[in-house]
Amino acid sequence: MLQHNFDEIVDRRGTECKKWDTYDADVIPMWIADTDFKCPQPIIDAMVKRAQHGIYGYPISTQNFEKAIANWQKKRFGWDIDLDWVEYTPAVIPAVVYAIQAFTLPGDNIVVQMPAYHPFHKIIPDNGRHILGNNLIHNPDGSYDIDFEQLEQLLSQKRTSMFILCSPHNPTGKCFTREELSKMSDLCLKYHVFVVSDEIHSDIVYKGHTHIPFGSLSQAAADNCVVCVNPSKTFNIAGVRTGAAIIPNRHNHDRFYEPLENVKAYGRTVFGTLPIEVAYNQCDYYADQLVAYLENNLTYLRTFLSEKVPEIKVGNTQAMYLIWLDCSALGLSPEKLQEFFLKKAKVAMNEGSTFGPGGAGFMRMNIACPKSVLMEALNRIEKVVKNK
Ligand SMILES: Cc1ncc(COP(=O)(O)O)c(C=O)c1O
Repeated sequence: MLQHNFDEIVDRRGTECKKWDTYDADVIPMWIADTDFKCPQPIIDAMVKRAQHGIYGYPISTQNFEKAIANWQKKRFGWDIDLDWVEYTPAVIPAVVYAIQAFTLPGDNIVVQMPAYHPFHKIIPDNGRHILGNNLIHNPDGSYDIDFEQLEQLLSQKRTSMFILCSPHNPTGKCFTREELSKMSDLCLKYHVFVVSDEIHSDIVYKGHTHIPFGSLSQAAADNCVVCVNPSKTFNIAGVRTGAAIIPNRHNHDRFYEPLENVKAYGRTVFGTLPIEVAYNQCDYYADQLVAYLENNLTYLRTFLSEKVPEIKVGNTQAMYLIWLDCSALGLSPEKLQEFFLKKAKVAMNEGSTFGPGGAGFMRMNIACPKSVLMEALNRIEKVVKNK
């Protein structure tokens, strides 16, 4: 079996890389959600081979892309999907925007669980819809529960037409159970609220937890959802800007396609679909090794902080390489917290209040880097907290 070297340091500076080229050279960037790992060798080989052909004209849409998406869903999550449920999309966030345009009207309410992945705070008002926050309940052990009572109250409002679920949940790292997903699905069905399930982090789930695709819950759930996926987080190919929507219901699929067709956004790209096909068909080994490597980084982070920097707490991380750190014991305002880590420790993370209610006092740290980089960042943090 192929082995990937996740310890390898790859210099990303100077590659027009948002994560590294945004900050000064002395800053360790642990913010935006891509990894510092090279993508799997079979993807590199396929891309190089295709590049060497030398002609990159209009591609034809074969079903290789759809087959790869279906293949992955079946082998990783046991979800049987038909090829004609799959729609190419230019990445996940554009797919969520198309769903907003297709299934809601200007002035409608859209429910999102808070704290929420920051672009959700923009794409909803930018499209003339209102955002309603269903606040997750933060337990003393760092885990999160759903406030179902509040969720029902928000879903039952007259102008609420969509629920955007982020599963697993960014930024809290919660992996929803079947029971929780079914309860959310039932409430949405009861109030005729359409579900968009953003499952971009579904491959990275830690021991003891299981990702369940929303559309696999029941026939009724399948008929009331769009599931958005993208192997970009797992295989580090976010820059190819390609993803997929899975829409089991034919009528919903036609509706979803309309805004995409209106702006002619269906044209696939030569270097967009190819890495996805290779990733999903040939690179299980990489996904498995990645999750094991990240789990090890997470254990290191947890042990280091609890022994040396108890002011910063790792919550109950069940999924994702974006770790939600409770820094409230440092007693700093959101602005000061960001400044403290960036200016003093020289570690760039995402500041919690940008994720909305429930985010103040937290920082989101990306641990998808070689362990040596994580160790250096933690040493820096330990030093500044001790000298605070
Ligand atoms: C929950 C979630 N959805 C979507 C995205 C972005 O997806 P894309 O680059 O495919 O638009 C991210 C990236 O961090 C994310 O965390």
